Order: sequence, then structure tokens, then C-alpha cells
Amino acid sequence: MEKIKVGVVGYGTIGKRIADAVILQPDMELVGVTAHSYNYRIDIAQEKGIPVFYLEEKNGLEKNCKLAGNLKALVNKCDVVVDCSPSPCGAENKAVYEELGVKAIFQGGEKSEVAQTSFVAQCNYEKSINKDYVRVVSCNTTGLSRSLKILDDLYGVTKVNATLIRRATDPGQVNKGPINAIVPTMELPSHHGPDVLTILPHIDVFTMAVVVPTTIMHMHNISAKVTKTPDLEEIKKKFKSTPRLRVVSAKEKITSTAHLAELGRDLGYSRGDMMDICLWEEGIAVKDNEVFFMQAVHQESDVIPENIDAIRAMMGMKDADMSMEITNTSLGLMNGKKKSKIQKTEVEPEKGLI
Ligand SMILES: NC(=O)c1ccc[n+]([C@@H]2O[C@H](COP(=O)([O-])OP(=O)(O)OC[C@H]3O[C@@H](n4cnc5c(N)ncnc54)[C@H](OP(=O)(O)O)[C@@H]3O)[C@@H](O)[C@H]2O)c1
Repeated sequence: MEKIKVGVVGYGTIGKRIADAVILQPDMELVGVTAHSYNYRIDIAQEKGIPVFYLEEKNGLEKNCKLAGNLKALVNKCDVVVDCSPSPCGAENKAVYEELGVKAIFQGGEKSEVAQTSFVAQCNYEKSINKDYVRVVSCNTTGLSRSLKILDDLYGVTKVNATLIRRATDPGQVNKGPINAIVPTMELPSHHGPDVLTILPHIDVFTMAVVVPTTIMHMHNISAKVTKTPDLEEIKKKFKSTPRLRVVSAKEKITSTAHLAELGRDLGYSRGDMMDICLWEEGIAVKDNEVFFMQAVHQESDVIPENIDAIRAMMGMKDADMSMEITNTSLGLMNGKKKSKIQKTEVEPEKGLI
């Protein structure tokens, strides 16, 4: 079987993760990535043997890199390009993808109009089958959509109110804050609620957001009105058994986003990422026809499996479950029980105890 040829445009927080994830797929080949300016990430790409292409200008990159060609040369070699440039550069780069007739995925920072459809694999995979332009929604919209879809399938969700406690910036960005303030977002609803409608258009979602001085994860406090009497145990069971969601608990001494970051590192996930949306068991409650829950979103990594599934959908794979299974297996996300990639040795039970 011929592999899907994938190029990554923009090798920053999201792009470097997608490039690594593509390399892990049995049915994909990473053709190369683009560099905009020289930095240590480009050195690492070269150490990994990933061909590096430049954009319109070389920007002095040739002094430190062996360049494989320009953007058009990369795009010409690809079946699908995943554009991970900072918004709104994706929309600007689209002219090149259109000119060369190559499919492209855009990220959540771009306006939804950049693509024919927006994407969260567990919610609307089928809408992207054979499409040319798809937008994988933002980390927050992905998180809200994944968990709300579960409740919607169980009981039918009519109305959602959510408060997003947003990380200020990513860990590597030293030029942004706040460092000692909580900053309310002066936009009601915040843009996240309307963005969820690009995925789950029938649910009335209203979001408010504040930005806090942390770089680790976002938190969402959510209440969802449903059409049938919700069953707490059924909800917990469904959340626990759904891939790409992870139910954690205070019993395990996981009581903060810092513990989740440590968990990702202890499980041996690349970069200490946590691609699952994490929900606290003690933070799930029901009252009358309303479900309440708290979840944490690792902004740098939850969209990575989505991009991989979007590639397969655009290349015509019709079976969403099969795509997600391949992605989950390759990335170590296994049916709600996230496996450590570190080799396990069987422990012999102590004699006399069996
Ligand atoms: N970070 C997150 O938490 C997160 C989560 C979900 C979705 N997203 C979305 O993903 C997209 C990328 O975000 P990011 O956080 O990965 O950004 P980032 O870390 O700033 O990386 C962007 C990369 O694109 C390069 N670049 C700059 N201008 C470019 C251009 N015109 N064409 C191609 N590449 C260009 C940058 O190079 P230089 O550094 O040399 O300028 C950098 O390597 C955005 O739409 C964002 O909203 C981000």
C-alpha cells in the first residue's frame, strides 16, 4: 500500500508534534517540514533526518541547514499539507496549496471559513471524507467537543454553560503573560462557544473565559442541560471507557494540572504531553436534568491525534473508528486506559499470596 505523503508547514509547538506523530503512522510518510527562521528546533529536525524546506525567503537558514527546497517544492511532493503556522498565515499560505492542487489542514487559530469543514474525529469525522480543506479546531474547542459529544449521545444536550480558565501561554514562550493577575476575557460569549458550533451545531453553548498565570493546561468548568434524567454512574462509566478521555481522581492524588503534567511525564509520553482530555471523577455531578464536570486540556497536544485522523479522512478512509484505532495505537492512547510506552515487565506475585 502506498503511504500518504504528508508535509508540515510551520515547525513550532503544534507542527513539531504533528511531524513526530506522522512518522509513527504505518500508512504515512513525512515528506518534510518548513522553517521560517533558524532556531534549535530546526537542528533537531535535521538530527531526526527530517528534510527541511524554506518558505519564500531563506532568511539566512542556509547558514545552518541543508535546505531541501522551498515551500512549493515541499507542497508539490505531498498528498496533504498540515499547516501549523501562526494565524492568520495559514489562510495566506492557502493560495499556494490551491495553486498546486494539494489538500491542506489548517489549525484552530484560523477562521473557520478557511476550510470546507471543521474537525473533531469523535464528533464529525465523516464530514471531512475526501475534502480538500479541513480545519482542526483549537485545543479548547476540541476538549469541549469530545466530552460534550459523549453526553449528547447519552442524553441529548440542549444548553451548555462553561467557564474556561485558560493558560496564559505555552511553556516555551517567555514574552507573554500575565505573571501575577487573572485577566477576564472581554468578549461574551468568548470565541470558544461559537467555535463548538462548527462541530456540534445543534447545541447552544455559551462560554466565558479568564486567563491565569500558568503554562501547563487549560481547565473547563462545564454545566450541560440534558433532555433525559442523567445517571451519574453511567456518565462516569462512559467517560472512563472513551478513548482520548481520561478520568483521574483525587484518590490517586491527582488534584491539579501540575499532577497531570507529571503523569504525562511518568507515563513516558513524548515531551510529557497529555493528549487525553482529563476529567476528575470527584468533579462530575448531576442535579435534576443538568450534568456538571471539570476537565483539563493540554493545549499543546490534544489536537495531535485529530490532525492525524483528518489526514486519513481527507484521503478517503471512510471508517472513522479504524482511523482512530490506528492513531490511538501508534500514539499510545488505548481505549481509555492509556498505556505507558515504557517496556513493562511482569511482576511475579510473592509466594504464599496465591
Ligand atoms: N500552541 C497551542 O497551544 C495551540 C493549540 C491548538 C492549536 N493551536 C494553533 O496552531 C497554530 C500554530 O500554533 P503554534 O502554537 O504551533 O505556533 P508557534 O509555536 O508559534 O509555531 C508556528 C511556527 O510557524 C512558523 N511560521 C511563522 N510564519 C510562518 C508562515 N508565514 N508560514 C509558515 N510557517 C510560519 C514559525 O516560525 P518562526 O518561529 O521562525 O517564526 C513557527 O515555527 C495556530 O493556528 C494556533 O492557534 C495552537
